Amino acid sequence: MAESSPLRIAGISALITLLISGSASMALFGAGVLSSSEDAPNGASADSSAAQASQSSEATTLEPDAQPSAQNTLLTEPAPPMPSNVDCATVKCVALTFDDGPHPEVTPRILQTLRQTGTPATFFQLGKQIPGNEALLKKALADGHVLATHTWNHLQLSQLSAEQIRQEITSTKKASQDATGVAPTLMRPPYGLYNQAVVDTVTATHDSIIMWDVDTEDWKNKNAAQTADRALKEARRGSIILMHDIQPTTADALPQIIDGLRKAGYALVTVPQLLGQTTPGSVHFSGEPTE
Ligand code: NI
Repeated sequence: MAESSPLRIAGISALITLLISGSASMALFGAGVLSSSEDAPNGASADSSAAQASQSSEATTLEPDAQPSAQNTLLTEPAPPMPSNVDCATVKCVALTFDDGPHPEVTPRILQTLRQTGTPATFFQLGKQIPGNEALLKKALADGHVLATHTWNHLQLSQLSAEQIRQEITSTKKASQDATGVAPTLMRPPYGLYNQAVVDTVTATHDSIIMWDVDTEDWKNKNAAQTADRALKEARRGSIILMHDIQPTTADALPQIIDGLRKAGYALVTVPQLLGQTTPGSVHFSGEPTE
């Protein structure tokens, strides 16, 4: 939920794909980010390029007779085809990302808008939110989105032991994989806080750390107009835009954000589409500009 922007602290590194492969240059971002005590326990999600690879087949395997929960009845129309072969080296790409779900009410609204507009996104989900919401994960994957992790309990990983960090990440990866059959390979640390122990852990778990360079501050402003305004004003080529699929105002803002970005010439892609293959343990704030 309340990741504020460590990117501002990181400054221009926002545009740089950092490879912190066990170097001493560990980053502990977000010292000023933790003011959001309202930040309810969020989870994590997992995402992977494998998820993308499986999307087309997964899309056809959703049980049409799934029980008529709110989640299942919302998404009845056929999904429009997602752009699958966008080349971010030749077009201006931006990735929309959503943290802290799955949420039983907001996530379906987000998925519906993404569906209606043919927009792919990446969801960094909390492990603790997954039980009971497995159908949402399946639908997201089937619709062409990428699932990624945001840890189980939304704790400050920099305050945990190596074993606790490992547990927070692996439990969430497992919950996502159990729900969808696809293991996530991208993770976002809660509050954007990570240190060398986190980097070492995700290297071992074969995950990449995905940060962001545009913070809509949707968790703080809880205002659709402000959320959309921040997204549209700050987005640039290669941006990774941070939002939360637990905020109703974010669902309200999403149509305007998508429309505005497209009118500005951006192609909306998943994080794997934006970054390509990533190396376990690598840290990414945005796609590397190619021009
Ligand atoms: Ni969060």
